[in-house]
Amino acid sequence: MSKLDWSNVDFETMIIHAGQGHDPAHGALATPIYQTSTFCFETVEEGADKFAKKIPGYQYTRGGNPTTRAFELKCAAMEGGEDAVATASGMGAVGSVMIAFLKCGDHVIFDNSVYGGTNAVATVNLPNMGIEVSRVDTSDLGALKAAIKPNTKMIYFETPNNPMIKVTDVAAVKAVAGKDIRVVVDATFAPPPIQHVLKLGADVVLHSITKYINGHGDALGGVVVGSAADMGLIRGNAMTKINGCPPSPFNSYLVLRGMKTLALRIERHCQNAMAVAKYLESNPYVKKVYYPGLESDPSHELACRQMENGLFGGILSFELNDDVKGMTSFEAGKKLLNNLSIASIAVSLGDPDTLIEHPASMTHAAVSKEDRLAAGITDGLIRLSVGLESARDLINDFETAFATI
Ligand SMILES: Cc1ncc(COP(=O)(O)O)c(C=O)c1O
Repeated sequence: MSKLDWSNVDFETMIIHAGQGHDPAHGALATPIYQTSTFCFETVEEGADKFAKKIPGYQYTRGGNPTTRAFELKCAAMEGGEDAVATASGMGAVGSVMIAFLKCGDHVIFDNSVYGGTNAVATVNLPNMGIEVSRVDTSDLGALKAAIKPNTKMIYFETPNNPMIKVTDVAAVKAVAGKDIRVVVDATFAPPPIQHVLKLGADVVLHSITKYINGHGDALGGVVVGSAADMGLIRGNAMTKINGCPPSPFNSYLVLRGMKTLALRIERHCQNAMAVAKYLESNPYVKKVYYPGLESDPSHELACRQMENGLFGGILSFELNDDVKGMTSFEAGKKLLNNLSIASIAVSLGDPDTLIEHPASMTHAAVSKEDRLAAGITDGLIRLSVGLESARDLINDFETAFATI
């Protein structure tokens, strides 16, 4: 393991070295893939001691694996948390948090706009388990305060959120929550170095690793980071037992590989997104662009305080005018997407490739129309994950696509 103290080095140095050291068996620089389901003991006594945690060591990959542990330690250092638990997908992280921290009779407050899968957890799974759920706009602190009940145990939101790119003030939410209500933030849309939500006051942060953190569009994964006690609850109960959803060692290796370039990739994603957001804002066919880096965005002032180093993320959403060449915004939007050559029409985000999607029929199709509209997700809304291609090429591609609708 590296001897560096992460508080004394820059993010770019930490993200390359944290969690990883020369492999003790042969000195390999890259962390080996321990592609094994189980680990052997020399004696029964050794096995018993490892199970009893009297001595360190691995027993079975569902409970821990050296490749996955390196991935967890890198994520803990990245977020400045005491510990981390890796999961097989972002939804594995969401589900593990719910199972570990909530029980029948508890109350949880969710933001009114979250990823479609998480929305299903809030509207179907938790109520089925006797857990009460309220939905509010968590950026409205008055509404949030009013929604708190004596049995409230958790406030859950994404910042920026999917797909409206709304920024919520983490420190202000924690001040409203007080010490007894856990504030859980899904920071998938803007991982470090863009923001460090634990430092802002969140108790727990989670990510769909599938997105920016792995960053190559070739592996699913998730992670939860927080205090050692909270991570113990997740690892000991939810993630390893009821959910049983660790990542495969091979995916952990891919994530470790992807994370080495996180700082560089994030910088370019953010630069490209800013350039494309400014271009779309000036386009006569575009009614509105949602991107916290734009001065016109209602989240801009908060984003400048909460997001670091002038980085505002790589995702934006936009709406076309109500009438585009005699078409509704929905019809024109479909043509626009079909006309693009560089961007792929696909859900997911944070890949090197630019991805574009239509939330109302794709990521948020399972959300009722009423709830979608209440959260601002109109039928004409388009979400764009700006990739690592040249910004000039991406803008030229939009120019051509708009000209031919
Ligand atoms: C904000 C957010 N959280 C969680 C998830 C779920 O992640 P996964 O697809 O890795 O399960 C997604 C997926 O798009 C997401 O956008």
